[in-house]
Amino acid sequence: MLKIIAAILTAAILTSCSTTDSGPVVKLKDNEQAVPAGYKSWPKFLMNVQRGDAKQVRDIYINPIGARAQKGQPFANGTTMVMENYAAKPGADGKLAKGELLRVFVMGKGEGWGDSAPQGLKNGDWVYAAYMADGVTRAPEPAAACRSCHLPLTKVDFVHRYDEYFVTREGGTYRGPSGGAY
Ligand code: HEC
Repeated sequence: MLKIIAAILTAAILTSCSTTDSGPVVKLKDNEQAVPAGYKSWPKFLMNVQRGDAKQVRDIYINPIGARAQKGQPFANGTTMVMENYAAKPGADGKLAKGELLRVFVMGKGEGWGDSAPQGLKNGDWVYAAYMADGVTRAPEPAAACRSCHLPLTKVDFVHRYDEYFVTREGGTYRGPSGGAY
């Protein structure tokens, strides 16, 4: 009997300590979110994004909480996305291939994380961080720049490739912005 009570108590304690879908309890600010270990085994958001203009190729990953979002919805609190920015080099079929890894960008959201945003730059509850290729050393890009460029995308939860992600995830071919929004 005692054993059973102990087991129930342990279960209750473990449950109350775990994080939930509403995200971790700690409120993160810009530049505080680390590159999560093991993100390369996360669901793929978009791979080999061709950015000829920026002379880069990018791979974007999303954590399992984020990948549960349905088109038309914002991403849940607890979502993290990691984007690897590679220098582009000429590849096959006129496509760009990946050269050296230049940066690792992270954006994540949690309840109330947007509270720390500078005035006029609140992107919902998203916060941003930029790292060098080692994934540890902070990169010089200021978070305010991330915020300004993602800021106008209010209809797609501040995520640039929102429409493309859902079309691709469902096995479709993305043919450019439809003007659609969630
Ligand atoms: C000049 C505009 C601009 C700036 C500045 C910018 N981004 Fe983005 N970001 C984009 C675009 C456009 C995409 C879509 C992928 C692509 O085309 O390269 C993107 C994509 C992303 C994604 C993948 C999710 C999505 O929105 O599709 C993450 C994560 C991200 N950016 C983080 C950052 C971080 C962190 C910073 C600052 C260090 C930053 N971005 C600065 C324009 C910008």
